Formats: sequence, structure tokens, C-alpha cells
Amino acid sequence: MTPDRPTASTEGAPPKISVDAVSKVFPVKDGEFVALDRVSLDIAENEFVTVVGPSGCGKSTLLNVLAGLEEPSGGRATVDGVEVDGPGPERGVIFQQYALFPWLTVRKNVEFGLRTAGVPARERAERADHFIRLVGLEQFADALPKTLSGGMKQRCAIARAYAVDPSILLMDEPFGALDALTRVRLQEQLLETWSQDRRTVVFITHDVDEAVFLANRVVVMAARPGRIQEVVDVDLPYPRTEDVRLSPEFGELRNRVWHAVYHQSTSLAQPSTTTA
Ligand SMILES: Nc1ncnc2c1ncn2[C@@H]1O[C@H](COP(=O)(O)OP(=O)(O)OP(=O)(O)O)[C@@H](O)[C@H]1O
Ligand SMILES: [Mg+2]
Repeated sequence: MTPDRPTASTEGAPPKISVDAVSKVFPVKDGEFVALDRVSLDIAENEFVTVVGPSGCGKSTLLNVLAGLEEPSGGRATVDGVEVDGPGPERGVIFQQYALFPWLTVRKNVEFGLRTAGVPARERAERADHFIRLVGLEQFADALPKTLSGGMKQRCAIARAYAVDPSILLMDEPFGALDALTRVRLQEQLLETWSQDRRTVVFITHDVDEAVFLANRVVVMAARPGRIQEVVDVDLPYPRTEDVRLSPEFGELRNRVWHAVYHQSTSLAQPSTTTA
């Protein structure tokens, strides 16, 4: 696969993330369940890749393999050429549930990882303030999470992930629990943050519009067994404004991705389990 990556800054360079024939098999009552079947994918440095697909197609399993939270049954994932064999500080993970410490203010939450990394107090405060500003929460730096809306909590989680300076952000349906309007605003905000401070992003979603709006490339997965169905290049300009979202080009890409997600009926005929 040699996809065109118009906004990746490392054209021709080795991939930042490489997924090489990764399989994941879970033991189940009547045999084994193939959650990932030889998934291969290269992601360039600073690329924004979204992964979309039906429930159960292995999106979270793939992300967990990249995060080092699940070990592949076959194949391997590498970051900067080094095999992933556990969580690491260069990979920040953001889940759907905000996972903020409820007893800590926004600032203390954002500082948390810096504190455990032994960063001195003054630098901690400066870095926390920088990322709190970057996600637009400066008015709420001293607020407790319970006083924030869902969208604000997720912005805080994003600032916290950024603060420890990971080169990779792994996001598993981070906006899944939010209402449609908040979601759209957070998509724009995340892209603004990313364009000011680029990282390599792998973003899982089951929302086709969200997948297309954010990405350089959309990876469409299929279930039973979990595998890559299609990879769609998104040659839309950044910044992705409302005009981009309403453009015919966006509509065409969305239709193409939607088609790839929706027309997966042939895969249902394939067995998802093998008897041990
Ligand atoms: N620990 C486990 N043991 C057995 N089966 C598992 C385990 N973890 C995941 N699976 C199965 O693997 C498949 C893929 O799960 P995964 O959570 O990766 O899907 P997903 O694409 O993230 O789905 P969703 O969109 O609902 O979050 C599912 O059928 C799930 O039931
Ligand atoms: Mg999932």
C-alpha cells in the first residue's frame, strides 16, 4: 500500500507507526474468536488517521495493541521501528470516558502526568497553562471536573494527554458520549489543536462524518473477522471549516466511506470463530 499522504511532513521517511499482519484471537467458550485478522497499516509521522467500522470489528482491539494494552496473537506493531510491548510515555491514550480525577482541578489534572514524571513545579504550571489555553479552558483552570460539561471534560483530557508530550495520540471514540453539536465543535477544536501542535493521531469512531472530517486517511474496518476493508485518502484542505464540511467533495468522500462501512454483508457469511 503506498497511499498519498498530502499533509504528512515526512514524505518518504519510515512510518511512525507500523502494523504488520497483526492478529488477535480471544479464547471463547466454543473455540476462538478472531478479533483481528492480519491487519497491516503504516502511519506517517504527524498523520491524522481515523478508523471507522461497525461495532465489534476490532477497532478498540487495534488501538489497544498500539497502546500496548493488548498483546497481538500474531504479527507486530512498531513505533519508530521499535516493537510495542507495553504502554509508553510517547503514546497518550484518550478513551470515551473522561477518566479525570474528580478531586483535582482542571490544572491539577493536566499537571498530573508531569508530576509523576518529576517535572519541577514551575515548568509543570507553565506547561499545564499552555495546554489549557490550547484547548480553550483557561477560564476553568481552577474548576473541578464535576462543574464542567462533557465536552469541557474531554478537552481537559486532551490537554492532559498533550501535556506529557507524547508523539502519538491514540483516541478511542473520545467524543462518543457527546451530543451532536458539542461533537462538531470538539472536532474543530481538536483539529485546531493538532494544526498548532502536530502529533501522530489514531482516532477511532463509528461516526462516518467525524471520520472524514478529521482525517488525512480513513481506515474502514470490517467484522468477522476484524480486518481492513478499505483505506480512503481524504484530500480535503485544512483548516477544515464548515465550508469544507458542506462541500460536494466532502459529501462524495462521506458517501464512499459510508458505502464501505455499510456494504459489508459478504463478511457476515464468513465464520468469526474457529473451533479449538
Ligand atoms: N477479552 C476479550 N475476550 C473475548 N472477546 C473479546 C475480548 N475483547 C474483545 N473481544 C471481541 O472482539 C471483537 C472486537 O472487539 P472491539 O472492542 O475491538 O470492537 P470495536 O470495533 O471497538 O467495537 P465497538 O464499536 O462496539 O466499540 C468483539 O466481538 C468483542 O466481543
Ligand atoms: Mg470499541
